[in-house]
Amino acid sequence: MKEKEIGELELDREFLLSRRASKWCRYPNDVIPSWIAEMDFRPADILQDSVRQLVDKRDYGYPRRHLMPAERLISEAFVKRMEERFSWHIEEAAVQPVTDLLQATIAAILAFTEPGDRVAVHTPCYGPFREAIEDAGRSIVEIPMRDSGSGYEPDMEALEQAPAGTRMLVLCNPQNPTGRVLTRTELEAIAAIAARRDMIIFSDEVHADFVYEGGRHIPIASLSADAASRTITANSPGKSFNIAGLRCGVMHFGTPELLERFRRRIPRLLLGKPSIVSIDAAVAAWTHGQPWLDQVMALLDRNRRIVIETLAERMPKLKAYMPEASYLAWIDCSAMGWKKPAASVFLDEARIAFSPGESFCTSHGDFVRLNFATSSDILRETLERMEKIAG
Ligand SMILES: Cc1ncc(COP(=O)(O)O)c(C=O)c1O
Repeated sequence: MKEKEIGELELDREFLLSRRASKWCRYPNDVIPSWIAEMDFRPADILQDSVRQLVDKRDYGYPRRHLMPAERLISEAFVKRMEERFSWHIEEAAVQPVTDLLQATIAAILAFTEPGDRVAVHTPCYGPFREAIEDAGRSIVEIPMRDSGSGYEPDMEALEQAPAGTRMLVLCNPQNPTGRVLTRTELEAIAAIAARRDMIIFSDEVHADFVYEGGRHIPIASLSADAASRTITANSPGKSFNIAGLRCGVMHFGTPELLERFRRRIPRLLLGKPSIVSIDAAVAAWTHGQPWLDQVMALLDRNRRIVIETLAERMPKLKAYMPEASYLAWIDCSAMGWKKPAASVFLDEARIAFSPGESFCTSHGDFVRLNFATSSDILRETLERMEKIAG
């Protein structure tokens, strides 16, 4: 099936159903998939061209570019992008390419903590963080994102009081699922606690490109020499450029000592290498993809307003704050008084698949995460179906 264009970037439902990425394949066709963090937008042409060149030449050997191992190009492109986007000055030698960010998460946990140590994470959190901590044999310390009545805020006291043996904080900024972009003041408070409690910070910043106007992403490692000395930053073009299935990301180590400690525990070969397809796509995206991302941000900005305004006007029992970043709305359905988890109600009665609140925090079954990175038609239908049972 051929792409049918709606506007510049939006894809129609029939075409989306004909593809094989998880989002549209997991549920029967009558269900609207609004779960996994993928966008229903056409990836940038510049990225498509770079992949097409490989396909046209059947160029699938071990990759080298300009007489050097190809993955060095990822580090180079990442360093330039961090400088341009966030005025964060870093060195190529401090960057380690990886195939995905969960690999980076568990590798960092294994490298910087010992079996039985505790690892703190702000909850609700992206579910696989919990899995990574538990799979590594460490125990989780939940640091709540508290509802202040005007938004979610990280509980600083809970972090300060984390039990003895809490050696690491897995930070997610911008935060998934609340859509918070932590302010400089909040980040400084977190860094100060990490210093007092001697914690390593693993900072997942994969949603950093999606900060809406008025906000600003600040890499926590850029705050100070001390923050850098305890921070490993993870990032990837997977979310921003809608190429999650290509598998490519980076870890950045705030000091050579951190990188050395990491290498002593995690041999390089264990990390594997990103594929040539993902390298070329990632480099094209980070180097030339911003005009495409600007177009995407305009669509997402439109959609986040539609979601929040429609909930307020037509489903006042559902509560959600305007996301400050990314394309995920974190919706509190507790006022509905449903007996089942909210995601099950929406799936069974409205045929919408949201990410279940309980996958972010066991006590949050009354929440769902809605993915609004889709066409205005699909979003309208999602909201109409929601209104039928929650209006
Ligand atoms: C905060 C966060 N980190 C990591 C990932 C997954 O990244 P990867 O596919 O590179 O493992 C996601 C995907 O939704 C995410 O939201």
